Amino acid sequence: MKIGTPLSNSATKALLLGSGELGKELAIALQRYGVEVIAVDRYPNAPAHQVAHQSHVLDMTDTEAVKKLIALERPDFIIPEIEAIATQALIDIEAEGRCTVVPNARAIQLTMNREGIRTLAAEQLKIPTSNYAFAESFDQLQAAVDAGIGYPCFIKPTMSSSGKGQSMVKNAEALKAAWDYAGTSGRVDTGKVIVEAKIDFDFEITLLTVRAKAQDGGVETYFCAPIGHRQEHGDYRESWQPQAMSAAALKASEDIALKITSEIGGLGLFGVELFIKGDEVWFSEVSPRPHDTGMVTLVTQKQNEFELHARAILGLPVDASLHSVGASAVILGGVDAKDVTYEGLAKALSVPTSEIRLFGKPEAFVSRRMGVALATAETVDEARTRAVKAASMIVIKSG
Ligand SMILES: Nc1ncnc2c1ncn2[C@@H]1O[C@H](COP(=O)(O)OP(=O)(O)O)[C@@H](O)[C@H]1O
Ligand SMILES: [Mg+2]
Repeated sequence: MKIGTPLSNSATKALLLGSGELGKELAIALQRYGVEVIAVDRYPNAPAHQVAHQSHVLDMTDTEAVKKLIALERPDFIIPEIEAIATQALIDIEAEGRCTVVPNARAIQLTMNREGIRTLAAEQLKIPTSNYAFAESFDQLQAAVDAGIGYPCFIKPTMSSSGKGQSMVKNAEALKAAWDYAGTSGRVDTGKVIVEAKIDFDFEITLLTVRAKAQDGGVETYFCAPIGHRQEHGDYRESWQPQAMSAAALKASEDIALKITSEIGGLGLFGVELFIKGDEVWFSEVSPRPHDTGMVTLVTQKQNEFELHARAILGLPVDASLHSVGASAVILGGVDAKDVTYEGLAKALSVPTSEIRLFGKPEAFVSRRMGVALATAETVDEARTRAVKAASMIVIKSG
């Protein structure tokens, strides 16, 4: 791999489609190797815009707009950070062969829609998942639940993330409201939902899995230590690493992650979401990119998930090993306001080993992630206590 000089004719350019907090850390990781970073989002002053060499504001679901930007910037790498993207543009660009879509265009297309990735995992690869069905009308949904999925179950728009439009339904009376909610709150209203039987898991993990170039030029798969997390309303609130689990469950988790990421292919880091009960493991979904729960690796790994993604993309060697036990706790907006201020940073940082990242988003919403608190410790329990305590000390006020 040859790397050029940023902002010159020889530059090695990475175009980030999506410029949130994960994109911001990835931009920094890429810049450390001298890569020119061009950050794109649908609104100005997004977190990665603030650290990139160049930035653009664009509707990333607009195929023509995305193609025009790629023709203008001529990046070496296109790195999608979000799910809602004009995948056709990526497929066409990839076919032209002038740049690498990370990890590849098919991966982006498959994971953008729950139907694509679920069908691939469950039906083609025979990986265990929750019992599921797709429905395009309320009657179909009711029929699928009655035919065996039962209650409790989860209803999710086929195109959505961060829990948007998603609800858990405990009984027949609540099914219609969940159908209506999915239809109005998805990211893109495909008119289609997935209904999944609820898995009664002991805990859930993200298994960060890296496909990187090996010494011999082939591709090798590496696994980070499992990350445990706690979700509220389909969005992550706390994560920790490592999550204690049986050797059999860990082996089954790695087998599933290897199967799904090998099928997807390409180079980069993936977040494989799994549900665990005893030695039993179910696949839930996979992100072909750094995962929000993986922010904990900012303090737990020598090479965090952003560094691993950057290295893998650039064809460099990786080390996915754990360095310290640690935890993360999200800092939510708490208010709907623009130009907010943050207080309590000094107090938060007086919690032993704590670190705070503020994302600098131009607008806060009550449940929008505005920052994250991180901490290490001898034990996961102590690390979680520290991270939660540090997060709670940040006070966000309207400006
Ligand atoms: N079938 C299920 N059984 C049990 N819990 C589930 C199921 N589906 C989703 N969940 C819970 O909801 C969270 C978010 O669901 P997920 O499918 O990952 O949506 P998103 O794409 O928005 O992250 C999961 O991490 C898990 O806590
Ligand atoms: Mg998820």
